[in-house]
Amino acid sequence: MLREGGYPLAVCGIAGYVGPRGSVEVVYDQLKRLEYRGYDSAGIAYLNGVDIKVLKRAGKLSNLGELLGDVPNDTHLAIAHSRWATHGAPTDLNAHPHFDRYEQVAIIHNGIIENYLELKEELARAGHSFHSETDTEIAAHVIGAEYAQGVPLEEAVRRAVRRLRGAYALVVISRKEREKIVAARNASPLVIGLGEGENLLASDIPALLPYTREVVILEDDRIAVLTREGLRILDLDGKEEPIQPIHIEWDIAAAEKGGYEHFMLKEINEQPEVIHQCLAGRIDERNMIRFEQVFSEHVWNEVDRVNIIACGTAYHAGLMGKALFEKMLRLPTDVFHSSEFRYGDPVLSPKSLAIFISQSGETADSLAALRLCKDRRIRTLGIVNVIGSSIARECDRTILTQAGPEICVASTKAYTAQVLVLTLLALHIAQVKEMPGVRPAEYVKALRGLHEHAARALELEPSIIDLAERLHRTPLIFFLGRGPDAHVALEAALKMKEIAYIATQESPAGEMKHGPLALVTEGVVAVFGATCASLRDKLVSNMREVQAREGEVVVVTTDDDTITPTSADHTLRIPGTGFEFLDALLSVIPLQLLAYHVARLRGCEIDQPRNLAKSVTVE
Ligand code: M6R
Repeated sequence: MLREGGYPLAVCGIAGYVGPRGSVEVVYDQLKRLEYRGYDSAGIAYLNGVDIKVLKRAGKLSNLGELLGDVPNDTHLAIAHSRWATHGAPTDLNAHPHFDRYEQVAIIHNGIIENYLELKEELARAGHSFHSETDTEIAAHVIGAEYAQGVPLEEAVRRAVRRLRGAYALVVISRKEREKIVAARNASPLVIGLGEGENLLASDIPALLPYTREVVILEDDRIAVLTREGLRILDLDGKEEPIQPIHIEWDIAAAEKGGYEHFMLKEINEQPEVIHQCLAGRIDERNMIRFEQVFSEHVWNEVDRVNIIACGTAYHAGLMGKALFEKMLRLPTDVFHSSEFRYGDPVLSPKSLAIFISQSGETADSLAALRLCKDRRIRTLGIVNVIGSSIARECDRTILTQAGPEICVASTKAYTAQVLVLTLLALHIAQVKEMPGVRPAEYVKALRGLHEHAARALELEPSIIDLAERLHRTPLIFFLGRGPDAHVALEAALKMKEIAYIATQESPAGEMKHGPLALVTEGVVAVFGATCASLRDKLVSNMREVQAREGEVVVVTTDDDTITPTSADHTLRIPGTGFEFLDALLSVIPLQLLAYHVARLRGCEIDQPRNLAKSVTVE
């Protein structure tokens, strides 16, 4: 059932326990069971005598483990958190749990509080001071301020969450009410495990399974109150709701993947949520882009050229960036493979900007290219998924893609987030420079609905499975397109060769006649991207060239296309957004699914393809 509805993106790991066992031992074990998702720091809060004791450490979970030697085993209520940083570097101080002003409550949080800066200013005016750079500490102070009014903990949380905007799964304990854990959820996952005389919670089911298989999925805008004896669920008006547990049959390995067979499929399915997270806090009520961490106006007016530098999938995202920057901003932009750039003696204008795109932030060639730019005193901007990574730290400025941990070697959701950040950046610059003819607000309206379009693109999976059945024995697949579709073709081809081990030929469709067409014979498949409406007529000629040589043609296009489907053997239609870059971006989703299902039918090792590593930290 969870699998059908999609699985919400879980960025941080959350655990909680109340019951007769040693609670710290239990929550630490829960965190270990969430380790597969990646994290950069971790912490635990437990009730100790009359206090709440907090232990936290940056880095590996074992760093936290080293602090647990002296913890008494008669502590029966604890919460724990493994952090994937979004606000503030991965340090001991920024690790959760966080206290409120009076150290009466401790909280852990998964998600992003979008209005934390507003709330922080308001709290600072009231005399609050803060120890970390996190949005979570702000939420702790808001809850603490309500709790100081003398209300029960669940009432304080209920009142506080009405003031929070954004995504959160919040878990709170108090010094005074020593028998309860209170949790609240909006758009970040939180599951509750019902045991015998004990109860638990977690951000993900694997962390519950050794203790219970009776699980309650907390819905959005609900507050849960866990004690040893039971669970109460309240809505935001404080009204109690019925509890509907479900029985989980999965084994633990399947549960780590949220019920999906592979991390790749899980990560492909997370893309609607990734889009949501990536936009969170970056578009405002007036449909303007808000990027607090990038350069100021005078820099954008000075930059005369952009060089985008990256490897693999991130390089393909960079090609989309070039197209956007040149079309929207008329700003000359080049894209380089990091390995070529670093040894290529590049010509760099002193007013240029170098953008480094990297999921891991640790790719050796990209890092070396970054250091070269720094030596040459060129401004640098990172677009990185892993906060605290080398590229994120060493760039002058960094924008986080906020895609959550990506486990499968083949990159999927990180690409979508990278292209989305580049789109936001282009719109931000257009806004700052007041570019004539660009209407960022119109674009932003389309961005708001993009996650729903992505969810609809995922619904193509049954037809993609049928198509994969037909194609999985083909010896060669062409990936072709024009305009932005040509860039997506490169990414689709990389996915197919990387995980399905099928040879591919990818290029702009107009290049076919200049050589690659010689490879088309019976049984060869050509996949065309046709989301770019103005170039469809041209594509049809290329499609016919393939069919005339007995090749088979698949087209991926938008639902309003009346031109290319008439010439295709198979058509996959995604919902159109009215913006060609966004349509092209969404078209990668069915192509990722196609690579996945072809690889699956060919019996390939999908999450860890042969000869490849997730992070290429050597040359
Ligand atoms: O971590 P990075 O984004 O810097 O990694 C770059 C490439 O190694 C990476 O995108 C690689 O091409 C993926 N395996 C593609 O799926």
